Amino acid sequence: LASADYEAEDATVSQGLVESNHTGYTGRGFVNYDNVAGSYVEWTVPSGASGPTDLTFRFANGTTANRAMDVTVNGTLVADDLAFPGTGAWTTWRTVTVRATVAAGAKIRATAVTANGGPNVDKLTVASTDAEAPRPP
Ligand code: GCU
Repeated sequence: LASADYEAEDATVSQGLVESNHTGYTGRGFVNYDNVAGSYVEWTVPSGASGPTDLTFRFANGTTANRAMDVTVNGTLVADDLAFPGTGAWTTWRTVTVRATVAAGAKIRATAVTANGGPNVDKLTVASTDAEAPRPP
């Protein structure tokens, strides 16, 4: 099963800042979405898979409000108002996963839908869920 991590701080950010003031992130930091609807992070995924793929977002939300986001793949909505609920602290990171088909070169965008903006987003993990071929004896 092929799996790869893509850091938010290496992605394209619209209306957000790369920060590192809350511990527990991977890489160099995370993206703090501006507190506005429409702010987004967009990852370009170099390799795809023919079958379904798990898209796992690692995030923190130190508030009690759900910071829902829309997830699109090449502009097509694959998760509407995906919930990013409070994690208890900005230093407490959780994941949420959606399944979609992702071809090589696909652009995966997570866009805040509320005026609070998105959560803090650490990274995207892309994992093919194709069944592995049985190993020869
Ligand atoms: C705080 C927190 C930020 C977070 C922001 C928010 O300022 O330190 O990391 O992004 O709240 O509400 O979005």
